[in-house]
Amino acid sequence: MNEIWDEVYSSDQSFFGENASHFAEMSYNDFKKQGVKKLLELGCGQGRDTIFFASNDLDVHTLDSSIIAQENLHKKQREKNISIDLKHFDARQGIPFSNNFFDAIYAHMFFNMHFTDDELKFLFIECNRVTKNNGMLYFSVRSDKDAQYNTGKKIDTNIYEINGFQIRFFSKSQIKFFLSDQFEIKSVIEDYEEPASLYLVFSFKK
Ligand SMILES: C[S@@+](CC[C@H](N)C(=O)[O-])C[C@H]1O[C@@H](n2cnc3c(N)ncnc32)[C@H](O)[C@@H]1O
Repeated sequence: MNEIWDEVYSSDQSFFGENASHFAEMSYNDFKKQGVKKLLELGCGQGRDTIFFASNDLDVHTLDSSIIAQENLHKKQREKNISIDLKHFDARQGIPFSNNFFDAIYAHMFFNMHFTDDELKFLFIECNRVTKNNGMLYFSVRSDKDAQYNTGKKIDTNIYEINGFQIRFFSKSQIKFFLSDQFEIKSVIEDYEEPASLYLVFSFKK
Protein backbone atom coordinates (compact mmCIF):
# COMPACT_ATOMS: atom_id res chain seq x y z
CA MET A 1 0.00 0.00 0.00
CA ASN A 2 2.87 2.26 0.80
CA GLU A 3 5.34 2.31 -2.07
CA ILE A 4 3.32 4.94 -3.90
CA TRP A 5 3.45 7.33 -0.92
CA ASP A 6 7.17 6.81 -0.36
CA GLU A 7 7.68 7.50 -4.06
CA VAL A 8 5.67 10.76 -4.21
CA TYR A 9 7.05 12.06 -0.92
CA SER A 10 10.61 11.29 -2.07
CA SER A 11 10.20 13.39 -5.18
CA ASP A 12 8.28 16.27 -3.57
CA GLN A 13 8.96 17.56 -0.02
CA SER A 14 5.51 19.21 0.09
CA PHE A 15 3.23 17.06 -2.01
CA PHE A 16 0.05 18.58 -0.52
CA GLY A 17 1.62 22.01 -0.03
CA GLU A 18 3.00 23.75 3.05
CA ASN A 19 -0.15 25.45 4.28
CA ALA A 20 -2.78 23.91 6.52
CA SER A 21 -5.86 22.62 4.73
CA HIS A 22 -9.25 24.32 4.94
CA PHE A 23 -10.48 21.27 6.85
CA ALA A 24 -7.69 21.61 9.46
CA GLU A 25 -8.61 25.26 10.04
CA MET A 26 -12.30 24.40 10.44
CA SER A 27 -11.49 21.53 12.78
CA TYR A 28 -9.11 23.60 14.88
CA ASN A 29 -11.86 26.14 15.66
CA ASP A 30 -14.00 23.33 17.08
CA PHE A 31 -11.07 21.74 18.92
CA LYS A 32 -10.43 25.03 20.71
CA LYS A 33 -14.10 25.47 21.62
CA GLN A 34 -14.25 21.92 23.00
CA GLY A 35 -11.02 22.29 24.99
CA VAL A 36 -9.12 19.64 23.01
CA LYS A 37 -5.51 19.19 24.14
CA LYS A 38 -4.39 15.71 23.06
CA LEU A 39 -4.89 15.13 19.34
CA LEU A 40 -4.16 12.06 17.19
CA GLU A 41 -3.67 12.60 13.47
CA LEU A 42 -3.98 9.48 11.31
CA GLY A 43 -2.20 9.45 7.94
CA CYS A 44 -0.53 12.79 8.58
CA GLY A 45 1.69 12.57 5.47
CA GLN A 46 4.31 15.33 5.35
CA GLY A 47 2.46 17.23 8.04
CA ARG A 48 0.96 20.40 6.58
CA ASP A 49 -1.92 20.08 9.11
CA THR A 50 0.19 18.50 11.86
CA ILE A 51 2.51 21.51 11.99
CA PHE A 52 -0.44 23.88 12.08
CA PHE A 53 -2.02 22.03 15.03
CA ALA A 54 1.26 21.67 16.93
CA SER A 55 2.17 25.34 16.36
CA ASN A 56 -1.19 26.26 17.85
CA ASP A 57 -0.66 24.57 21.18
CA LEU A 58 -2.18 21.15 20.62
CA ASP A 59 -0.32 18.09 21.90
CA VAL A 60 -0.14 16.22 18.58
CA HIS A 61 0.57 12.51 18.03
CA THR A 62 0.69 11.10 14.52
CA LEU A 63 0.68 7.79 12.67
CA ASP A 64 1.73 7.29 9.07
CA SER A 65 2.96 4.15 7.35
CA SER A 66 5.29 6.03 4.98
CA ILE A 67 8.84 6.21 6.32
CA ILE A 68 9.62 9.06 3.91
CA ALA A 69 6.65 11.07 5.22
CA GLN A 70 7.98 10.59 8.72
CA GLU A 71 11.50 11.65 7.76
CA ASN A 72 10.18 14.77 5.97
CA LEU A 73 8.05 15.74 8.94
CA HIS A 74 10.81 15.02 11.42
CA LYS A 75 13.05 17.47 9.54
CA LYS A 76 10.36 20.19 9.41
CA GLN A 77 9.63 19.69 13.11
CA ARG A 78 13.31 20.26 13.98
CA GLU A 79 13.58 23.35 11.75
CA LYS A 80 10.50 24.89 13.38
CA ASN A 81 11.48 23.75 16.86
CA ILE A 82 8.09 22.28 17.66
CA SER A 83 7.32 19.05 19.42
CA ILE A 84 5.26 16.32 17.74
CA ASP A 85 5.11 12.61 18.60
CA LEU A 86 5.69 10.89 15.23
CA LYS A 87 5.06 7.18 14.77
CA HIS A 88 5.91 5.22 11.66
CA PHE A 89 3.09 2.69 11.87
CA ASP A 90 0.55 0.81 9.77
CA ALA A 91 -2.83 1.63 11.30
CA ARG A 92 -4.24 -1.67 10.04
CA GLN A 93 -2.39 -3.22 12.99
CA GLY A 94 -4.36 -1.03 15.40
CA ILE A 95 -3.71 2.31 17.07
CA PRO A 96 -0.78 1.94 19.50
CA PHE A 97 -2.18 4.01 22.37
CA SER A 98 -4.08 3.13 25.54
CA ASN A 99 -7.86 3.40 25.96
CA ASN A 100 -9.40 6.89 26.22
CA PHE A 101 -6.05 8.57 25.53
CA PHE A 102 -7.13 11.30 23.09
CA ASP A 103 -9.54 14.20 23.26
CA ALA A 104 -9.88 14.11 19.47
CA ILE A 105 -8.79 12.31 16.31
CA TYR A 106 -8.27 14.07 12.99
CA ALA A 107 -7.70 12.33 9.63
CA HIS A 108 -7.67 14.17 6.31
CA MET A 109 -8.05 11.87 3.27
CA PHE A 110 -6.83 8.85 5.24
CA PHE A 111 -9.87 6.54 5.50
CA ASN A 112 -10.20 6.67 1.70
CA MET A 113 -6.96 4.72 1.29
CA HIS A 114 -7.36 1.16 -0.02
CA PHE A 115 -8.66 -0.47 3.16
CA THR A 116 -10.94 -3.51 3.03
CA ASP A 117 -14.37 -3.18 4.67
CA ASP A 118 -13.15 -5.23 7.63
CA GLU A 119 -10.04 -3.08 8.04
CA LEU A 120 -12.18 0.06 8.01
CA LYS A 121 -14.56 -1.32 10.63
CA PHE A 122 -11.59 -2.28 12.80
CA LEU A 123 -10.04 1.19 12.38
CA PHE A 124 -13.22 2.90 13.60
CA ILE A 125 -13.42 0.50 16.58
CA GLU A 126 -9.81 1.43 17.37
CA CYS A 127 -10.62 5.14 17.05
CA ASN A 128 -13.48 4.66 19.51
CA ARG A 129 -11.20 2.80 21.93
CA VAL A 130 -8.48 5.48 22.08
CA THR A 131 -10.79 8.51 22.40
CA LYS A 132 -12.22 9.81 25.65
CA ASN A 133 -15.97 9.82 26.32
CA ASN A 134 -17.60 12.26 23.89
CA GLY A 135 -14.23 12.46 22.13
CA MET A 136 -14.24 13.87 18.61
CA LEU A 137 -13.48 12.10 15.34
CA TYR A 138 -13.14 14.58 12.50
CA PHE A 139 -12.21 13.14 9.12
CA SER A 140 -12.51 13.71 5.39
CA VAL A 141 -12.99 11.18 2.61
CA ARG A 142 -13.27 11.34 -1.16
CA SER A 143 -16.96 11.55 -2.04
CA ASP A 144 -19.23 9.87 -4.56
CA LYS A 145 -19.62 13.32 -6.16
CA ASP A 146 -15.92 13.39 -7.07
CA ALA A 147 -15.20 13.82 -10.79
CA GLN A 148 -12.75 10.88 -10.53
CA TYR A 149 -15.34 8.53 -9.01
CA ASN A 150 -15.98 5.59 -11.33
CA THR A 151 -12.91 6.39 -13.44
CA GLY A 152 -9.58 4.52 -13.68
CA LYS A 153 -9.29 0.82 -12.98
CA LYS A 154 -11.85 -0.73 -10.64
CA ILE A 155 -10.04 -2.63 -7.84
CA ASP A 156 -12.96 -3.42 -5.56
CA THR A 157 -16.41 -2.05 -4.69
CA ASN A 158 -16.00 1.75 -4.66
CA ILE A 159 -12.19 1.48 -4.92
CA TYR A 160 -10.45 2.66 -8.10
CA GLU A 161 -6.84 2.93 -9.14
CA ILE A 162 -6.28 6.39 -10.62
CA ASN A 163 -2.77 7.54 -11.66
CA GLY A 164 -1.24 4.83 -9.46
CA PHE A 165 -3.26 5.77 -6.32
CA GLN A 166 -5.87 3.35 -4.97
CA ILE A 167 -8.77 5.42 -3.72
CA ARG A 168 -12.05 4.55 -2.03
CA PHE A 169 -15.02 6.82 -2.69
CA PHE A 170 -17.76 7.09 -0.06
CA SER A 171 -21.46 7.89 -0.16
CA LYS A 172 -23.03 9.47 2.92
CA SER A 173 -24.78 6.20 3.75
CA GLN A 174 -21.47 4.29 3.63
CA ILE A 175 -19.97 6.77 6.07
CA LYS A 176 -22.91 6.13 8.42
CA PHE A 177 -22.54 2.38 7.95
CA PHE A 178 -18.84 2.32 8.85
CA LEU A 179 -19.20 4.60 11.86
CA SER A 180 -22.22 2.52 12.97
CA ASP A 181 -22.04 1.93 16.71
CA GLN A 182 -18.77 3.77 17.26
CA PHE A 183 -19.42 7.46 16.53
CA GLU A 184 -22.44 9.71 16.22
CA ILE A 185 -22.35 12.03 13.23
CA LYS A 186 -22.97 15.70 14.02
CA SER A 187 -22.69 16.86 10.41
CA VAL A 188 -21.29 15.99 7.00
CA ILE A 189 -20.23 18.90 4.81
CA GLU A 190 -19.22 18.87 1.17
CA ASP A 191 -15.88 20.48 0.37
CA TYR A 192 -13.45 20.66 -2.54
CA GLU A 193 -9.67 20.49 -2.45
CA GLU A 194 -8.20 20.33 -5.96
CA PRO A 195 -8.77 17.74 -7.47
CA ALA A 196 -10.82 16.05 -4.76
CA SER A 197 -14.49 16.38 -3.82
CA LEU A 198 -14.71 15.53 -0.15
CA TYR A 199 -17.13 14.80 2.62
CA LEU A 200 -15.96 16.40 5.86
CA VAL A 201 -17.33 14.34 8.73
CA PHE A 202 -17.76 15.79 12.23
CA SER A 203 -18.56 13.03 14.72
CA PHE A 204 -18.42 12.21 18.43
CA LYS A 205 -17.75 8.98 20.33
CA LYS A 206 -20.95 7.16 21.29
C1 LIG B 1 -3.95 11.14 0.91
S1 LIG B 1 -2.56 11.11 1.97
C2 LIG B 1 -3.05 12.41 3.08
C3 LIG B 1 -1.89 13.04 3.83
C4 LIG B 1 -2.25 14.16 4.80
N1 LIG B 1 -3.37 13.79 5.66
C5 LIG B 1 -2.58 15.43 4.07
O1 LIG B 1 -3.76 15.69 3.80
O2 LIG B 1 -1.64 16.17 3.76
C6 LIG B 1 -2.83 9.64 2.92
C7 LIG B 1 -1.72 9.28 3.92
O3 LIG B 1 -2.10 8.07 4.60
C8 LIG B 1 -0.93 7.27 4.78
N2 LIG B 1 -1.36 5.85 4.91
C9 LIG B 1 -1.86 5.06 3.94
N3 LIG B 1 -2.13 3.85 4.44
C10 LIG B 1 -1.80 3.88 5.76
C11 LIG B 1 -1.86 2.92 6.82
N4 LIG B 1 -2.31 1.68 6.62
N5 LIG B 1 -1.45 3.29 8.06
C12 LIG B 1 -0.98 4.56 8.29
N6 LIG B 1 -0.90 5.50 7.31
C13 LIG B 1 -1.30 5.17 6.07
C14 LIG B 1 -0.09 7.52 3.54
O4 LIG B 1 1.27 7.22 3.76
C15 LIG B 1 -0.37 9.01 3.28
O5 LIG B 1 0.60 9.82 3.92
